[in-house]
Amino acid sequence: MYIISESDDYEKLSCLFNENGLEIDAGIRRPHNVVKCWECRDITSNKLIGGASLEIRSGYFVVADVAVDIDYRKEKIGTQLMSIMEDEIIKQGGSEAWLVGKVPEFYIKIGWEIVDRDQAPNISKCFTCDKFGTECFAEVMRKTLVKA
Ligand SMILES: CC(C)(COP(=O)(O)OP(=O)(O)OC[C@H]1O[C@@H](n2cnc3c(N)ncnc32)[C@H](O)[C@@H]1OP(=O)(O)O)[C@@H](O)C(=O)NCCC(=O)NCCS
Repeated sequence: MYIISESDDYEKLSCLFNENGLEIDAGIRRPHNVVKCWECRDITSNKLIGGASLEIRSGYFVVADVAVDIDYRKEKIGTQLMSIMEDEIIKQGGSEAWLVGKVPEFYIKIGWEIVDRDQAPNISKCFTCDKFGTECFAEVMRKTLVKA
């Protein structure tokens, strides 16, 4: 059993993101453009087992990071974290979300679509990285959000 809640401890979350293979330094301070972050904890052990952060970049809502501890994957925690972020965007008046994702299959399953890099707003430093499209095959993705 686990619980997801809003988090103020970005430094801890950045460690979780780093440990789970995201390109983020462990222990960094909360970037100024973070809208909100969430953590997921195992209720029994209180262990941090998942997290997510939502940012505004160039005026667009961007799922900056989402990660689930390897021992807790495929239990829909990732899906729930994504759903919470999407709801938050709608709550804040947004109608679409963006991300650059290394696991497009996961995002496609939950309603995201791949977008040509040329058609995306300037939401990622990936776009100017030499590895993008050569060594790194992340996809730019978008989801149109509708009120439930
Ligand atoms: C990607 C990640 C957040 C998914 O979290 P999760 O809690 O395991 O995902 P869910 O259980 O909600 O999965 C939902 C669906 O997506 C599928 N899925 C999850 N991860 C997947 C992956 N890496 N590749 C393909 N499909 C995946 C699941 O099998 C599930 O499919 P189903 O509905 O048919 O059962 C998690 O694997 C993770 O932290 N990975 C390492 C960090 C990372 O890559 N983050 C994303 C960076 S862009």
